[in-house]
Amino acid sequence: MRFSTLMFAWAAAVLLAVATLSAVADASPPPSKFLKVGFYKHTCPQAEDIVRDAVRRAVARNPGFAPGLIRMHFHDCFVRGCDGSLLINSTPGNTAEKDSVANNPSMRGFEVIDEAKAALEASCPRTVSCADVLAFAARDGAYLAGGINYRVPSGRRDGHVSIADEVLNNNVPPPTDEVAQLVASFKRKGLSADDMVTLSGAHTIGRSHCSSLTQRIHNFSGEVGRTDPSIDKSYAAELRRRCPPSTDNPSDLTTVPLDPITPRVFDNQYFKNVLARKVPLTSDQTLLTSPRTAGIVAFHASVEKAWRAKFAAAMVKMGNVEVLTGHEGEIREKCFAVNHR
Ligand code: HEM
Ligand SMILES: *[C@@H]1O[C@H](CO)[C@@H](O)[C@H](O)[C@H]1NC(C)=O
Repeated sequence: MRFSTLMFAWAAAVLLAVATLSAVADASPPPSKFLKVGFYKHTCPQAEDIVRDAVRRAVARNPGFAPGLIRMHFHDCFVRGCDGSLLINSTPGNTAEKDSVANNPSMRGFEVIDEAKAALEASCPRTVSCADVLAFAARDGAYLAGGINYRVPSGRRDGHVSIADEVLNNNVPPPTDEVAQLVASFKRKGLSADDMVTLSGAHTIGRSHCSSLTQRIHNFSGEVGRTDPSIDKSYAAELRRRCPPSTDNPSDLTTVPLDPITPRVFDNQYFKNVLARKVPLTSDQTLLTSPRTAGIVAFHASVEKAWRAKFAAAMVKMGNVEVLTGHEGEIREKCFAVNHR
């Protein structure tokens, strides 16, 4: 009895030591989960140029692709990690992420990714993942819209699974979320409250469909005719005019700019709008309701340069969420469908 207790204690001590040693070894990221800047340097040196050319052409055609691609990367990373699952089309047996109400009809830019991927397949077949194409394209969108530039670590692999019902099921936060829910949502993805506020600054460009805000201006707290009193009065009147009750329907295509002051400029105006209570979504205005997030909003509103640097760093961090690497997943040939197996 005594002997076996001793043996047990000894074995436990050895196990603990081994665990501690391997924990120390793990302090540097395990190689299989390690994205790296220039991952395609030898296998497809022109990869990032090819993506940039496709994004440049698309944004010249329609500037709305820049915000579209930035948002697309976010919605990809928040469902099964940054694995390109958002890009997969629905099939007869499966409704894919693309067709969740959070993405259809609002998400724009899928054709840009498909164009970039076709050009890549012509130069370097089956080499560059769709998840990486999207990460590069989001960066290029931010650069073209606002001169934000950063190096994108790559080496992601593409997932096989895309399920519409997963999108709004504790993954992509809805625009009705309050600050505590937003903080919890980002925390589930390994991102901080600071990252959440910083990345929300992407709402300095692009648009929202009225359906994301009609309840806030026409039926606040379930009272028909009532408007959220936290919205600036004249801005609330503008929203009610542009988004009449008839637009409260996910398939209605009426939109308002996310940044009513400088809708096409990628600047820190978004944070000034939050302070002035001129933002369309509850999830934007709620950032003022906690002292911590309100402080970050005020800081970004007054020091634009700091926000720009933080935005670039937070995009890189978001791009690491639950990635597939090494031999996981696959390199899709077409971004809208898994490979035949
Ligand atoms: C904090 C939680 C967030 C919520 C609740 C949220 C919600 C929304 C909603 C409802 C829209 C309007 C979509 C439409 O109806 O067309 C939108 C647009 C957009 N979001 Fe977010 N968002 C969040 C965070 C982010 C993040 C982290 C990014 C990227 C870094 C981002 C980038 C964008 C962009 C660029 C648009 C404009 C899209 C376009 O013009 O096509 N958002 N967001
Ligand atoms: C107003 O909100 C309540 C509670 O969310 C909801 O049950 C009701 O259907 C809404 N009414 C309209 C007209 O949107």
